Amino acid sequence: MNDYNSRRILLVEDEVVTHRAICRIFERNKYDYVGVKNLTDAINKVKTEHFDIIFSDVVLPDGSGLDLLDKVNSYLLQVPFVVITASEDKSLVQNAMKKGATDFLSKPFNLKNIPTIIDRNIERQRIANERQSPRNASALLKAIKALISALEAKDSYTSGHSMRVAHYAKLMGEGLNLNDDDQFCLQLSAVLHDIGKIGLPDNILKKSTTLLQSEYNAAKEHPLIGSKIVGNIDELHEVAAIIRHHHERFDGNGYPDGLEGEAIPMLARILAIVDAYEAIVSQRHYGSILTPREAFSELRKNAGTQFDPVLVEIFISLAEHPEFHETNGNIF
Ligand SMILES: [Fe+2]
Repeated sequence: MNDYNSRRILLVEDEVVTHRAICRIFERNKYDYVGVKNLTDAINKVKTEHFDIIFSDVVLPDGSGLDLLDKVNSYLLQVPFVVITASEDKSLVQNAMKKGATDFLSKPFNLKNIPTIIDRNIERQRIANERQSPRNASALLKAIKALISALEAKDSYTSGHSMRVAHYAKLMGEGLNLNDDDQFCLQLSAVLHDIGKIGLPDNILKKSTTLLQSEYNAAKEHPLIGSKIVGNIDELHEVAAIIRHHHERFDGNGYPDGLEGEAIPMLARILAIVDAYEAIVSQRHYGSILTPREAFSELRKNAGTQFDPVLVEIFISLAEHPEFHETNGNIF
């Protein structure tokens, strides 16, 4: 899986310091890479050479990294494309995802996350390429519905929560213009994110008072248990990864792996936001139920520490959507 040497990367970055720093990471990990500093050279490279992944700055001296993305699309290249943007530039991120970018890095970003980002994007492409077409979706959905009803039988509250989280996840996926595979993966992850709670004893699951430390530690196992359950289904390996990481925090203080920033898969960063929002506007855990407006300011307060700040703003901008507050739809 980690056959780094066979990975050929194109880096398009004109800013000298960033360019050099990223190249150093590539060298340290023994990646085969080509670094260019403008759009023209980048287009010539993608025309004539094969790459497994492309990292491109958006603002280039002779054009936009998004023009490169257009070229990649017009050549029908199935290459993961990671855009590098100035921080907080949410409309640019949305635009890039709409054009088919698969991930984004907003400056300043942590260089040590780059190998993880390369790994997950290439793996996602590999799964997409291998996936049988047409996908046997109906059998898969039947299995998923069976899993959900098993949890529902044990904890009806979680089930309602998961379906509402899936509703917000769907809108986020549309707002970001995720491709069909990512949209499918995000929605399934949302529906199944708390499936690991099926392994928790009833006295913890149904407790209405504050959990003891030992009970809290047991409850924190649910992302791991959930990802193991779902990981047994071959086609859902990526969904399993999103479930595993839905309680990571942007500042690295989450669980189970303490991943930080962009090292957390983007879909898991989305799920963390929509999960928290749904909990804030509907759960009793937060003391009193908050209004959407209060919930948004709660998300903003935790942007950059708990949540990805760019994704928080994109989520809040979706509140204008006519379907935003209609959480009773059937997502299947
Ligand atoms: Fe959870």
